[in-house]
Amino acid sequence: MSVFSGRGGQALTLALTTLHVGLLGVGVLLLMRLAVDAVASPIEVLYQLVGVLCGLALTGPGMATVIASVTDRRQRVALRRMNQQLETEIRQRVTESLATRNALIFGLAKLADYRDNDTGTHLERIGEYVVLLANELRTEHDEIDDRWIERLKLASSLHDIGKVGIPDAVLLKPGKLDADERLLMEQHPLMGADTLLAIRRQLGHDPFLDMGVEVTLQHHEKWDGSGYPFGLSGDMIALSARIVALADFYDALTSVRVYKDAMPHRDTVELVRSLRGTHFDPEIVDVFLTNAGRFDDIRRTLQPRSGDRAVPKIVELAQKYLRRTHHSEDPATGREPAVPVRAA
Ligand SMILES: [Fe+2]
Ligand SMILES: [Fe+2]
Repeated sequence: MSVFSGRGGQALTLALTTLHVGLLGVGVLLLMRLAVDAVASPIEVLYQLVGVLCGLALTGPGMATVIASVTDRRQRVALRRMNQQLETEIRQRVTESLATRNALIFGLAKLADYRDNDTGTHLERIGEYVVLLANELRTEHDEIDDRWIERLKLASSLHDIGKVGIPDAVLLKPGKLDADERLLMEQHPLMGADTLLAIRRQLGHDPFLDMGVEVTLQHHEKWDGSGYPFGLSGDMIALSARIVALADFYDALTSVRVYKDAMPHRDTVELVRSLRGTHFDPEIVDVFLTNAGRFDDIRRTLQPRSGDRAVPKIVELAQKYLRRTHHSEDPATGREPAVPVRAA
């Protein structure tokens, strides 16, 4: 590392370099003179040589420092540039792999959700509802920040993945379930959490997976302890699960299902109000009631129009995709071939 730094150091470095070059020049001239003028006095030549050697001895370390300083500076600049490039690349890779992970998780959750929800946008709406509630609750809860909300949005999509393990005869049964069927249905939080815990055992601690387990396991617990699977009450139920519970309830009631019609928004709001402190956390109900209009806006924006079904929409998307990727035409008709549709 250079002992000369700053502008003063640079000026000193320049002066020493000039002196060094000058002395080298004198040395060369002296040798030329020795070669040409052989009659010069040996003492005189000796004095001059000693002078040159002293000069070189004095300026040598300075010159070494100058070279080291310049080299150090160049290396530092190159290293800094390389570090910046690596940091940018790592940040980009992490962002990309996180986005891929999140998309895959959401896609798998959506696949599971299609089993009992043929409109296909239940999870998107729940994601918006939980973000709204969590944002309104953040001033009262230190644990809520942007990353927590981002995790909750994705974790909310996993709440019913355990339903994959429930037989169709129970999951899709129109009307009320009998006692045995209800018991079976109430296993879905355990099945979902067990699946996520198996992933967690492979990966180790992960804040997203931890929240996923909370939400999946506890979204049917109730504030007064009358929920399932464990009968947890009050603050013992994770905040994430308490938020998802209300969002899921609102969306399930205001949506059409194979076994029921949709309840109007206003009636659902009144029902949630009546369940304050029994089914739901009173604080979350208060935030919901204050923002009920915004829930209705999200519902209207993201809920399919009556009569819309997911399957024709998927066929439409598949046709668009094929048009973009293949651009194939039927030579006989000059039209793009239609994606075959199986009768429902
Ligand atoms: Fe559930
Ligand atoms: Fe749900």
